[in-house]
Amino acid sequence: MSRVLIIGAGGVGGVVTHKCAQATDVFTDICLASRTMAKCDRIARQLKRPIQTARVDADVPANVVRLIRRFKPDVVVNVALPYQDLSIMEACLATGTDYLDTANYEPPEKAKFEYRWQWAFRKRYEKAGLMALLGCGFDPGVSNVFCAYARKHCFDEIHTVDILDCNAGSHGHPFATNFNPEINIREISQRGKYWESGAWHDTAPLSVHQTFDFPDIGPREMYLMYHEELESLVRNIKGLRRIRFWMTFGEQYLTYLRVLQNVGLTRIDPVDYEGHKVVPLKFLKNLLPEPSSLGPNYTGKTNIGCLIEGLKNGRRRRVYLYNVCDHAACYREVKAQAISYTTGVPAAIGAILMVNKVWRRAGVHNVEEFDPDPFMEQLTRRGLPWVVREPRRGEYRIR
Ligand SMILES: NC(=O)c1ccc[n+]([C@@H]2O[C@H](COP(=O)([O-])OP(=O)(O)OC[C@H]3O[C@@H](n4cnc5c(N)ncnc54)[C@H](OP(=O)(O)O)[C@@H]3O)[C@@H](O)[C@H]2O)c1
Repeated sequence: MSRVLIIGAGGVGGVVTHKCAQATDVFTDICLASRTMAKCDRIARQLKRPIQTARVDADVPANVVRLIRRFKPDVVVNVALPYQDLSIMEACLATGTDYLDTANYEPPEKAKFEYRWQWAFRKRYEKAGLMALLGCGFDPGVSNVFCAYARKHCFDEIHTVDILDCNAGSHGHPFATNFNPEINIREISQRGKYWESGAWHDTAPLSVHQTFDFPDIGPREMYLMYHEELESLVRNIKGLRRIRFWMTFGEQYLTYLRVLQNVGLTRIDPVDYEGHKVVPLKFLKNLLPEPSSLGPNYTGKTNIGCLIEGLKNGRRRRVYLYNVCDHAACYREVKAQAISYTTGVPAAIGAILMVNKVWRRAGVHNVEEFDPDPFMEQLTRRGLPWVVREPRRGEYRIR
């Protein structure tokens, strides 16, 4: 029986806490810690069993060390912001504790996320006999597991992967982001990037798009973006010829985003305002709805999956693996919308597999390095059933 420390009491943190609390056969003790104590206590009050809560500023490793020494977790689940990844990884090393997160580090002053800062911890984690599991949400996370499953069960060679992320839900706000607004807008406004024939190719932000007919949802416009799992999958799926990531956006969302960009509200450099330094995007974040507040009126579904092509027994094959998740059903179960749910459930599953030693290897690892089968089994059991289908000729085509 194990102890889990969850850091970050936002939309995703709420779901991880609910799901760990449901796993009574795995976690005897749970602590939820975050910058704002009231948010931890609000989530704790939603649960059927008692948990501990704590206040922590995880930007400072010494604060996290103190908390870990007091609570003594077997694993720390970091669902605060990517800015805290390195300080929490340091604290885990200092205390001999395993680590898991859902988003890779990016420096606050530059909107550029890469694994290199976290992969640099490899030798130290290996030497300490500790494990860090990176990017264990949905995408990254389940998208990587789907690729590992396809590699194990469906293909002899994987040639192309398209990761397709569709949110066809409606929250009733004119403009809101489904996960942390600051991190989300930094990601979406970056240049697009995909990998083909051994090289990375750049595109202007959201300039490449096409319509795709999503199962259970229907046709939606999806846009090519750079996403962090592309970096690890290019390394770990041998023989890959091309990998791309696509996300759907509605016209209204894109119009708001353009206006915010044009008036300078998405800038991440400090500007002088009446003698104070203000980062416009941080200010904007404070005006926008919190992801954890979107649930009550959210309707519609998400569909996130991987369309994969390659060879099996010498013949060309296409396989589409995906999950469909319903916003309102998530809210009924854990008081959260589907984006928080699809991220929080895999994070809880990763933690369960780690403490049960099903996925346990010293070092710093990405999800696709492990056997996908136990994870896929847990996905169905813990609320994210998946579909694997072989499209007919002409069905689910992508250019
Ligand atoms: N892989 C995936 O599929 C996926 C998908 C969606 C999101 N994510 C990641 O999941 C994470 C959480 O997203 P979210 O939507 O839950 O965001 P959120 O609602 O904004 O929650 C973030 C939480 O982290 C806390 N926090 C921020 N700085 C902190 C610090 N220095 N010390 C302690 N706590 C701190 C915040 O505290 P305050 O409330 O005090 O600000 C907030 O409670 C993000 O890293 C996001 O990128 C991953």
